[in-house]
Amino acid sequence: MKVSVVVALCATAAAVLLLSPAAEGSHLKVGYYKKSCGNVESLVKYHVAKAIKANRGSGAALVRLIFHDCFVRGCDGSVLLDPTPENPYTEKTAPINIGLAAFEVIDEIKAAVEAHCPGTVSCADIVVYAARDAASLLSNGHVHFDPPAGRLDGVHSHAADAQRDLPDSTFTIAELIRNFRRKNFTVEELVILSGAHAVGVGHCSSLRARLTAPPTQIVPSYRSLLAGKCAAGADPVVPNNVRDEDPKAVAAAFPSFLKKLRKAKDFLDNSYYHNNLARIVTFNSDWQLLTEKEALGHVKEYAENGTLWDEDFSDALVKLSKLPMEPGSKGEIRNKCRFVNHY
Ligand code: HEM
Repeated sequence: MKVSVVVALCATAAAVLLLSPAAEGSHLKVGYYKKSCGNVESLVKYHVAKAIKANRGSGAALVRLIFHDCFVRGCDGSVLLDPTPENPYTEKTAPINIGLAAFEVIDEIKAAVEAHCPGTVSCADIVVYAARDAASLLSNGHVHFDPPAGRLDGVHSHAADAQRDLPDSTFTIAELIRNFRRKNFTVEELVILSGAHAVGVGHCSSLRARLTAPPTQIVPSYRSLLAGKCAAGADPVVPNNVRDEDPKAVAAAFPSFLKKLRKAKDFLDNSYYHNNLARIVTFNSDWQLLTEKEALGHVKEYAENGTLWDEDFSDALVKLSKLPMEPGSKGEIRNKCRFVNHY
């Protein structure tokens, strides 16, 4: 068969396989793969647990990944697409996606799932399941939920969409509220979801403004600690949670905080709210939550009630996972999470 004929046939087949998902996410179902791929959830869990055992940071990266996938074009795996000569600026190349990681964990899960149930499970669903398992493992099971599935993988991914839709760490409270409201998330949910910053790391370039912020916004000894660490390289990373800090740096800059350090890093709980009220958080966007009455009220509420945060964070992640693809957009079950099928 001539190459041009093969190309034409493949293009037709790919077009036929492109499906149209329901716009509102109403087609999503808990246990969606029960009949078609019964062990998908245990496969995902196995690989997430393995990745977290090797490096707890990959758990934090998976919790961030669901947010960065779902807030841009809905939960469609568009964040996973690698740049290609035809589309060199996919979402993951956007500056706002700095530090986004764990793509290799998603690849490993997808390969295992394909070996069991070829062409059945979308990468978008894998992102959601993996975030669920990561959040559960990092919180010792306190964060737990049963997300519906049945998402399709999108075929579009553009850095400009990520820049437009994702919040920046320099945002004011008004900008944060507007950004979340655009996706139908409330001020309370903004506060709840920001609690994910109890885990993981950030680049110094993402917190530059904090290094010169006044004492009303950041505890000066914590600011000195961050400044010292940020002076140590081109753009190093620092833990989002002060309790995950390196003891030597804390002893030098911030000895009163030594007692707060924990052996178990990246533990997902409501400590973000305690740190925030004490003005010991990394991003300007975190501190901004203290500057508006309703948001501040919720910061205090979640500082006081860790169990409530575990539950509300679980619910907010389920809501996040239901953000639909843009109306009329086509989807598919990708063969490989980094590339659309017709690539
Ligand atoms: C409210 C607006 C938000 C802003 C402005 C924001 C901003 C950021 C920034 C700048 C970083 C560090 C990136 C880097 O420099 O490497 C980061 C990390 C992180 N964010 Fe957010 N974020 C927000 C909301 C969220 C939400 C809703 C989640 C999840 C539910 C989340 C989860 C995380 C996690 C887990 C990390 C650490 C990732 C890692 O260690 O790999 N963030 N965020």
